[in-house]
Amino acid sequence: PTIAPTPTIAPAPTPEAAPTRTASPRSYLMCRPEYFTVSYAINPFMNPDAPTDTARALRQWDALVGVYRGLGHEVAFLGPVPGLVDMVFAANGGFTVDGRAYVASFAHPERRAEADSFRAWFAAHGFETHEPASVNEGEGDFAFAGGVILAGHGFRSSAESHTELARVFGREVLSLRLVDERFYHLDVALTVLDSEAIDGPARIAYLPSAFDEAGRALLADRFPDSILVSEEEAAILALNSVSDGRNVVVAQDAHDYIAALAAAGYTPVPVDLSELLKSGGGVKCVSQELRR
Ligand code: ARG
Repeated sequence: PTIAPTPTIAPAPTPEAAPTRTASPRSYLMCRPEYFTVSYAINPFMNPDAPTDTARALRQWDALVGVYRGLGHEVAFLGPVPGLVDMVFAANGGFTVDGRAYVASFAHPERRAEADSFRAWFAAHGFETHEPASVNEGEGDFAFAGGVILAGHGFRSSAESHTELARVFGREVLSLRLVDERFYHLDVALTVLDSEAIDGPARIAYLPSAFDEAGRALLADRFPDSILVSEEEAAILALNSVSDGRNVVVAQDAHDYIAALAAAGYTPVPVDLSELLKSGGGVKCVSQELRR
């Protein structure tokens, strides 16, 4: 009788494992949208003639606060001011690193009065406050990415503010020009996923076409391992997401971005901020990270 050869069992091909991401506790400054509405238009999302639902904005915002707390993050609150309808977009009021706060100087007169509340809050909470000499909208246009600061200009913050940033924080500033009016702030064109990456430089996600050629080249060179997002998903503010290094709080309709995040080892945490989208803002816009 012929003896069948012993079958050799080939090891199953192991799918390339996604790296394990590590979360670190964060602190966010937020402002409840008690007076939220759209009463003027300073970006292409805003239509003062379309109805808004403040109660719905409040419910969505309250749910986001619950999500942050559930992830173990700390949330600090800035009191809303009647008439300042955009104050819920707390990211725009300043930028903090190392216990220093660079206060915003808003581009549009409709929002200028907000800066006083932010300045007072930073001063009362132990930050060394730095008065701006140039127009800038804080964390709307500035992002902390693994020791360097990414800074946008072109629509809101001035290029001069980037020079001030470098002086105030003593860190390298990568200046990026935004070229598409729908992506008028850096934080609607780019997300920092790991501010201190475990396996190399900070990882980011972005929409290349939001930047000029020099900006695209700089991002490709400094952040070769990035997640690129489609214009369609960027337009629902997919990139206006907030990461703690592992969990990424993101617009729930950004399906492709959510899938790309999961494939890269992150844990997407989808939320609905559709009411605030009417004003051109999302998750990141309403959350200013506090770095002490
Ligand atoms: N309506 C606000 C404005 O145009 C939205 C700000 C959104 N904030 C942000 N960080 N992108 O100023």
